[in-house]
Formats: sequence, structure tokens, C-alpha cells
Amino acid sequence: MMTEVKIEKLQKLDQETLERLIEIYMNAYEGMREYGGEGESYAKRYLRWCWSKAKDGFFVAKIGDEIVGFIVCDDDWYSKYEGETVGAIHEFAVDRRYQGHGIGRKLMEKCLEYLKGKRIELWVGEKNERAKRFYEEYGFREAGKHGIWVRMVKPAEKVISADEK
Ligand SMILES: CC(C)(COP(=O)(O)OP(=O)(O)OC[C@H]1O[C@@H](n2cnc3c(N)ncnc32)[C@H](O)[C@@H]1OP(=O)(O)O)[C@@H](O)C(=O)NCCC(=O)NCCS
Repeated sequence: MMTEVKIEKLQKLDQETLERLIEIYMNAYEGMREYGGEGESYAKRYLRWCWSKAKDGFFVAKIGDEIVGFIVCDDDWYSKYEGETVGAIHEFAVDRRYQGHGIGRKLMEKCLEYLKGKRIELWVGEKNERAKRFYEEYGFREAGKHGIWVRMVKPAEKVISADEK
């Protein structure tokens, strides 16, 4: 089944798509309500904000025509903690029914390709051990805390151009 997963840039955020993303956002965080899926009207506003802020880095995972997960990658985020513009991951969620099959990895790889050469910042719930471990595997490290949130940063990797090789 999982060989059919395709990662695509989201083309438009129409009503039907927005509703599906809200559904994923709500069920992905089941059991971790303090970190996401607070409520549908919040989710709607938040996902619309993500779309307006990072259209070019809004990637969805699809099985056939169905969206099963998404990641929102921003290539132009001013981080007050870093004191500079960095890459950022604003949201990352896979439908609960499809978690644990490598879809999150596919989305993350797309994101890292999109944000190549940039320092990347994200925030994760302090008790969200699974997500923290997942990010650590990709080189993110804890860089600070704010309430229930942990800030993680992945340093920029030097991109070697062809003529430097
Ligand atoms: C984090 C998330 C997006 C990962 O997506 P996913 O499709 O489940 O991830 P993958 O299947 O690619 O798994 C990646 C790794 O997570 C871990 N993992 C996956 N399923 C797991 C499970 N059921 N139990 C424990 N660890 C698991 C494994 O380390 C796995 O590595 P492996 O490929 O070596 O087995 C998804 O779990 C999710 O939506 N979580 C809730 C929302 C969230 O926490 N978002 C990020 C907050 S900032």
C-alpha cells in the first residue's frame, strides 16, 4: 500500500482540502491535545495562516486522491531566538490511521530538500517523545524551552556547488 504514497506541493487550499487537513490535524494529535488539534475553528485559522505564510513549502502526502499527511515548510521565517531569517517547519501531521508507515519520513525528506542550505527551527511539545526522537534523527537539537514547548534547531548544512568539488 505504502509504495503508492506521493508527495506533492499543495496547489490550492479549497474548502474540501481545508476540511481534510483539519481532520488530519485533529486526529494526528489525539491523546496530545495540548500540542495540537485544539479545536476546529482554531485549526481552520491556523491552517489558513500556514497557507498564506508558506504556500511554496506546503507539501501533502497522497494515496490516490486522498491526502493522508502534510508538512508546512517556510523558507523565510524571522526567528527572534536566532536573530535572523531561517527555515521553519510550522506544522507536520500524518493521519493517525496511516502513521508508522514511513509517510512522515517522505514528507520530512521533501521538506529538507526544499529548505536545503538553511538553518531550520521548529517547536515540539515537551512530552512528544516520538516526534522529538524523529527530529533528532534528522539532526535537530534542543535549543530552548518556552512553557510546554521545546525549540529545536537543525544547523545549516553547507551546500557544495559543482565548481567547489
Ligand atoms: C510525527 C509524525 C508526523 C510522523 O509521521 P509518521 O508517518 O508516523 O512517521 P514514519 O512512519 O515515517 O515514522 C518515522 C519514525 O517514527 C517512529 N515511529 C513511527 N511509528 C511509531 C509508533 N507507532 N510508535 C513509536 N514510534 C514510531 C519510528 O522511529 C519511525 O522510524 P522507522 O521508520 O525507523 O520505524 C506523525 O507521527 C504525527 O502526525 N504525529 C502527531 C503530530 C505530531 O506530533 N507532529 C509533529 C509535532 S511538531
